[in-house]
Amino acid sequence: MSETLRVFTELTTLPEEAAAFIRSGGIVAFPTETVYGLGSDAFDERAVAKIFEAKMRPPDNPLIAHVGAVEQIGDLVSEMTGAARLLLETFAPGPLTVVLKKSRRVPAIATAGLDTVGVRVPSNPTANEFLKACGAPVFAPSANISGRPSPTTWQAVFEDLDGRIDCILKGETAEIGLESTVVDCTADPPVVLRPGGVSIETLRAVIPEIEVYVPDMPGAPRSPGLRHIHYAPKAFVEIVERYPADVADAAFIGISRLDAEPAKALVCDSVEEYAHRVFAFFRECDRDGIKKIYCERVPETGIGVALMDRLRRAASR
Ligand code: TXA
Ligand code: MG
Repeated sequence: MSETLRVFTELTTLPEEAAAFIRSGGIVAFPTETVYGLGSDAFDERAVAKIFEAKMRPPDNPLIAHVGAVEQIGDLVSEMTGAARLLLETFAPGPLTVVLKKSRRVPAIATAGLDTVGVRVPSNPTANEFLKACGAPVFAPSANISGRPSPTTWQAVFEDLDGRIDCILKGETAEIGLESTVVDCTADPPVVLRPGGVSIETLRAVIPEIEVYVPDMPGAPRSPGLRHIHYAPKAFVEIVERYPADVADAAFIGISRLDAEPAKALVCDSVEEYAHRVFAFFRECDRDGIKKIYCERVPETGIGVALMDRLRRAASR
């Protein structure tokens, strides 16, 4: 890991204290309902650059802007579309990111040179209080070292970023546990670029013609971040129907009862609980030195679509 930055990381439970670091050009990890984010003042180019450095994030992967209230989106975008307005009316605050044409105030570094910007309004009350206290929109990717599983607890943020960021705003475990749904609203009909906390079915109840991005879709510029390895533990991940009976030294996460005895197992009561706990489980497996994690396949409906997307990415390295 690069040791170019070594700063003292403040831990706090007070949104106002964390926001003071943003207002003075610092970078702060904060809880949201999806995963923890690592934020800076959206209009401070130098502060945004610190995010890329701290996370070791490739510069071609754009960041999502977070705001405390829908009205603030006007400062970030140059054009609001009817579809985006409708989606925001229905799903904001919540785990949805809309991609729109960016305003000139948004620094190019934050959007990786794209002329669009992703924007979301988190529903987590601590996030909301923090964002309102920041006084400006906040660019924030997930608060992990690039490529690692997204952090769903402040302890996971600490594990990756202690000494590399100014402050961690300690909150609850992220309620959903997977990232927001990213919808490109510059396209007509809009296109889901990344499945997430708002399900495709729920989106289609509002805009029935919404499409879902598939990698070789013709003429698609789409989401640069989707090219990168994501969410991967050090252990190898394999998606299975059930845990193999003859393997004793691996880990299992899923929803079916087991008839084998893995070295480590997490049997969840629902797909929602599986989604909520999977990233923390990956991190635990790494700490325990587990070499292989078997993940049970789930039906691709509801949050199951986002969960299978993350499992496939974790398995494809
Ligand atoms: O739930 C979330 O979205 C979390 C929390 C912290 O809000 N954030 C998050 O950020 O997952 P990150 O940086 O890990 O993922 C952002 C995703 C990437 O896949 C990126 O390519 C896509 O959003 N994205 C951002 N801006 C975009 C744009 N202008 N056009 C297309 N895709 C964009
Ligand atoms: Mg991320």
